[in-house]
Amino acid sequence: MTKDLMRYLLPLTAGVALIAQASTTAASDLADRQGKPRKILLDTDPGGDDAFALFWLQSLAKQGRAEIVAVTTVGGNVQSQHTFANASKILALGGFEHIEVGRAVPRRGQAEDAAYIHGADGMGNLSQTLPASKHQLGEARFADQIIIEKLSAAPGEITLVAIGPLSNLAAAEEKCPGILAKAREVVIMGGVFRQPGNVTSHAEFNVHYDPEAAQKVFAGRDDIVVLPLDVTQRVTLTTERVESIAQASPRKRIARFLAALFQFMSKTSMGYRETEGVRGFHVHDAATLAYLFYPETLLLRRAAVRVETQGEWTRGQTVFDDRHGTKTDANAWVAMQVDTVNLLAILAEDLKVLIEAK
Ligand code: BDR
Ligand code: CA
Repeated sequence: MTKDLMRYLLPLTAGVALIAQASTTAASDLADRQGKPRKILLDTDPGGDDAFALFWLQSLAKQGRAEIVAVTTVGGNVQSQHTFANASKILALGGFEHIEVGRAVPRRGQAEDAAYIHGADGMGNLSQTLPASKHQLGEARFADQIIIEKLSAAPGEITLVAIGPLSNLAAAEEKCPGILAKAREVVIMGGVFRQPGNVTSHAEFNVHYDPEAAQKVFAGRDDIVVLPLDVTQRVTLTTERVESIAQASPRKRIARFLAALFQFMSKTSMGYRETEGVRGFHVHDAATLAYLFYPETLLLRRAAVRVETQGEWTRGQTVFDDRHGTKTDANAWVAMQVDTVNLLAILAEDLKVLIEAK
């Protein structure tokens, strides 16, 4: 784990260790900076904040910093036929319609979606304003097959970014044990540790939707990178910020779509008191890309993350051992602090690049 050696330890009074991701010095990231785009396979359930993340990723790809290997979709914010169509349409709007889109692996059991926040179509009821989907659900390959194929073909090269429930990743690991260890990194938005959850008092949406899948993914390697609500609820996109993005090229289709999606998301988020009265919404999923491409915006700590699958009141809760003492069973790096101002400023600048390029 050469990258771990590049992380700085910052001892804290609480006796835990926070680490700053020092990717400027990591050999692998030097390679990225020397012109090699980072290969990303994104698993997503679009979703308003997923859409902002996917547009950001397309901007990074346009700038030559990322290569989108594939986008796989999962049911979560809305049902999986919608998340598939949404991913396809967002890629078409960004100019990346040639990227393969995978369909969700069917999963057992029911879970409640988040259409009350993201709209019945997952896109703030705006999906009709997007370009037509360029991918056919019936012809698409299943997500687990794509994950297995891509990671097996390029071990250690592809970063797996998961911003929805972890059902597809778990299915891939179940079908092909050890496959997650073949990713360069696995970076997930999910979980919550030191504050209330957003679906129950204890649980965050992505983990609560499929806790058994999350448990399987956390067992899949010892260096899962986690962006929990503890940081993502501090990444609140505001009206001023969105106006600054859209005003750069107000007539461009992406600018108009992002502004309208923002309006919808901020209204529902405020309705559910997610933003402490601030007019805006949390772009949770974008934090994964901040970690990968602008790691100076986040501080992470080493932890042994466990997922509660049995509890009557705590199902889907993520916990780590916060007591003093040596930890021998750590499996994750968990983001605990975020430089919100910089992260949002960078996101805005990168979105403008994509908007202007189209
Ligand atoms: C996560 O849940 C979803 O509603 C969002 O898209 C994000 O991935 C936040 O808890
Ligand atoms: Ca999501």
